[in-house]
Amino acid sequence: MKRDGATTSLWQHDMPDFVSKTTGMTDTIFDVVIVGGGITGITTGLLLQKAGKKCVVAEAYTLCFGTTGGTTAHLNTFVDTTYAQVKKDFGEDAAQLLAKATQQALDLVKNNVQEYSIDCGYEEKDGYVFSQNPDQTKELQDMLQSSLKAGVEVAQADHIPVPVPFEKAIMYPHQAQFHPAKYVYALAKAFEEAGGVILENCAVTDVADGEILNVQTSIGIISGRQLIYATHIPPGINLLHFRCAPYRSYAMAVKLKDNQYPDGLAYDMYDPYHYYRTQNVEGEKYLIAGGEDHKTAHAANTEACFTKLESYLQHFFAIDHIAFKWSSQYFEPADGLAYIGNLPGNPNNVYVATGYGGNGMTYSHIAAITLSEILLTGDSLYADLFDPGRIKPVAGFTNFVKENADVVAKFFGKRFSESKLPELAGLATGEAKVVKFEGDSVAIYKDDSGRLHAINPVCTHAKCIVAWNTAEKTWDCPCHGARYSADGQVLTGPARLPLELISLEDLIEKGEQ
Ligand code: FES
Repeated sequence: MKRDGATTSLWQHDMPDFVSKTTGMTDTIFDVVIVGGGITGITTGLLLQKAGKKCVVAEAYTLCFGTTGGTTAHLNTFVDTTYAQVKKDFGEDAAQLLAKATQQALDLVKNNVQEYSIDCGYEEKDGYVFSQNPDQTKELQDMLQSSLKAGVEVAQADHIPVPVPFEKAIMYPHQAQFHPAKYVYALAKAFEEAGGVILENCAVTDVADGEILNVQTSIGIISGRQLIYATHIPPGINLLHFRCAPYRSYAMAVKLKDNQYPDGLAYDMYDPYHYYRTQNVEGEKYLIAGGEDHKTAHAANTEACFTKLESYLQHFFAIDHIAFKWSSQYFEPADGLAYIGNLPGNPNNVYVATGYGGNGMTYSHIAAITLSEILLTGDSLYADLFDPGRIKPVAGFTNFVKENADVVAKFFGKRFSESKLPELAGLATGEAKVVKFEGDSVAIYKDDSGRLHAINPVCTHAKCIVAWNTAEKTWDCPCHGARYSADGQVLTGPARLPLELISLEDLIEKGEQ
């Protein structure tokens, strides 16, 4: 199974690519075109197909290529934005509605696992949140009270499943965990058996508005009456690019010497927080731990984030070895809730689901429920709560927008001369960096054979400057999270066009590498 970076997640271990039954393009007019073959796209497609809609999922690469293949797969009845915060910003009714949505999401996963007999290591587990200082303890108390008030089952706990010192803890029962790729593959199979179409290696490049949408893709035109962007962030430039900020999180699957694997899900309360759980894959147990999150392209050395995470874990666990380590991207919503519904600034037959924060497994199912209800009946209980067009004057929103306003720069040159060679002398194979050249920036990558590649580092989405991600060997955009391969090809949107290649002829001819 392929993913959008150089590291390998636990879920990719021994997982072949999904092979769809579809052999070519079809001239059908679909009821719904779903862009993106991750957990949101496939789950939504299955619900709609089963309800009688004729659906197609168009995936630019292969299923689970994006964040679904890099999640740590926690299913929770609480999300990063606490019920106390939701009550403060949106009201008590909203907190209760969110609680209902998270529970319905978890029920949907459980039902899917049962209905399709999915062998994906699904298990219900208790989820523990624990404090480690008086401020966190106060916050934890608020979490407990506000969760109870919202209607979520939770209680004080006198123990936690991880050997980390703590002051107080609370426990949410009936949380869950699973192997996300096995789950999505099984749903994809059910979707196809129900008549749904999956087109892999099918990148959507443009959409022409109309009652019938003409969707231009890398393999031809698809027509559909409605379209859902299940791409983590939609393409184009719209309101949501100013209301979502991309972040990166780091995860490890660890083998322990003492076999003391935690029996439960656990979360500390630092910002960013650490998260823990155990998963059995092909007869092997792994501690999955994650954290060290930062805004995308805002860490000079992303490899160092793994080092920090490992040394933190070493304080508490008898680590035998790190079996897998990987990172993945998520989008923080400005006011704390996901955006699910009509895509602002687009016709009313174009929909989106984004801004899941660190709760992608839960929110993907909330999105599937909400979007399928809206498309089937014209409304959903959750439509207003997650309306992407909502405007909430929440404290911190101004700062959030500023955080998103990274530098915009432009590169005019087309040739990179030998004059900059000394600056590149220290570049090792497989490394890259953005260097200044005559006042402009140039992205330089030295491939494994030692060959230099020069690329215009101006993101093709809205002209921010990309940064090199050392761990994943990708160019990441700090503004709206577009990601490119080392040679500039689009890995994940919102960009649709590759980074511009710059001629290195002069340099290569002089054999200066
Ligand atoms: Fe928007 Fe790069 S993703 S400018």
